[in-house]
Amino acid sequence: MSTIEAHGGKLINRIAGAEEKRAFLERKATLPTITLNNWALSDLELIAIGAFSPLEGFMNERDYQHVLQHMRLSNQTVWSIPITLDIDDTTASSLNINNEVALKGADGNLYGWMKIESIYTVDHEEEARKVYGTADKAHPGVQKLFSKNKTYIGGPIKLIERTQRDKFQQYYHDPQETRHIFESRGWKTVVGFQTRNPIHRAHEYIQKSAMEIVDGLFLNPLVGETKSDDIAADVRMKSYEVLMQNYYPQDRVFLGVFPAAMRYAGPREAIFHAIVRKNYGCTHFIVGRDHAGVGDYYGTYDAQLIFEQFKKEELGIEILKFEHSFYCKKCGNMASSKTCPHDKAEHLHLSGTKVRAMLREGKCPPPEFSRHEVAQILIDGMKQEAN
Ligand code: ADX
Repeated sequence: MSTIEAHGGKLINRIAGAEEKRAFLERKATLPTITLNNWALSDLELIAIGAFSPLEGFMNERDYQHVLQHMRLSNQTVWSIPITLDIDDTTASSLNINNEVALKGADGNLYGWMKIESIYTVDHEEEARKVYGTADKAHPGVQKLFSKNKTYIGGPIKLIERTQRDKFQQYYHDPQETRHIFESRGWKTVVGFQTRNPIHRAHEYIQKSAMEIVDGLFLNPLVGETKSDDIAADVRMKSYEVLMQNYYPQDRVFLGVFPAAMRYAGPREAIFHAIVRKNYGCTHFIVGRDHAGVGDYYGTYDAQLIFEQFKKEELGIEILKFEHSFYCKKCGNMASSKTCPHDKAEHLHLSGTKVRAMLREGKCPPPEFSRHEVAQILIDGMKQEAN
C-alpha cells in the first residue's frame, strides 16, 4: 500500500460483502426506499470506495453543522464540503431515527443501504454563504443547493451495487487500486491534479513543474456532474489521452477519473479536492489560480490562502501552489509573475469565452495556448455536439 495515510487514518470501505448483500436483498422489500439523483448517487459510491474517507455515510446534523461553521467534522478532522442527502417532506414524515432505508438510483435500480442517524432541517442561505461564500443564485453551486429539499438525512451507508459506467470504464480506479498502482510503479511521491477542463499549456506547465520534484503525476479529471457550458467529459478524456501519448513520459503519469460532481465552491472545494486526492494516494496536490472557481466569486488566490488556516499535519497532503501561468513572447516560454520580468503586453492571454468561440468556428488557438492535437479534439467534439 502507498505510504500516505488516508484522511482520518483509515481508508474506508463501505462496499457490502456478499453475505451483507444477500441479507439486505432478502429484507429490501420491507424497507422504505429513497431515490437518489445522480449527484447523490456518485457521493454514495465515493463514500463507499473510501474516496471520502473518513466519511462512512451522509453527514448527520452534528458533522454538517461543524463543517459549515469550522471546516471540520465534529471529531475535529478537517473537512470543508457538506456531503449530504436531502429528502422531500412526505418521505421525511414517514421516517424515523434508526430506520434502515434502501437507496435507489433514478434508473430504479437499487444501489445502497443506509441507517438513519439524523433527520434535520437546514438553512440553504446559510449553507450557501458558508460553503460558497455567496447566496447569489446565479452561482451554479448555489443554484443547485437551492434546488434541494431543506430536510437532510444522515447516517452510515453501504454500497450494494456499483453504478453503471457507459464511458471510459478503464479509467475508473478506486483509491485502494490507485494506491497499489502508485506503489507498484515505485512512486514515493505523487502529485494529484484536479481539472474540469481540457489541459492547456498553462495546466501542462504547472503539472510538469510539479513533476520535476515528485515521482509521478496522477492526472485526475473530474467527470461527474458539471455545469452545461463546461466541456463534456468524453471529449475531455480524448484530449487527455492524446496529450499523455504525445507529451508526457508514460512511466511518470497516470490517468484516472474522479467521478464526483463539481461544486464550484472555490477555496472550500480546493481543500476537499486535496483531501480526496490524499485518499487516492497522492502526497502532493496542485492548487493554481482560482481553483474550482467560477465567474468572479473568488479572488485569484483565495483557494491557496485558505490552506493557511490548517496545520500541515492536519491536512496530511502537501499543497503545491502555482501562480497564474501564461506564455510570454519575450521569454519565449511559459512563465508566471514569479519568473517573468516582462510587461503584460508580452503575455498571451485568451479568455475561456474567446477560446470556445474560436473552437466553435473550427479555429485552433495558438500553440502557445493549447497543443494542436488537443484543440483538434475539442473542435471535433464541438462539431459533433452541434449536429
Ligand atoms: S478547476 O475548477 O478544476 O480547478 P481547471 O480545470 O481550469 O479548473 O483548473 C485545474 C487546476 O489548474 C486548478 O488547480 C487551477 O487553479 C489550475 N490552473 C488553471 N489555469 C491556470 C493558470 N493559467 N495558471 C495557473 N494555474 C492554473
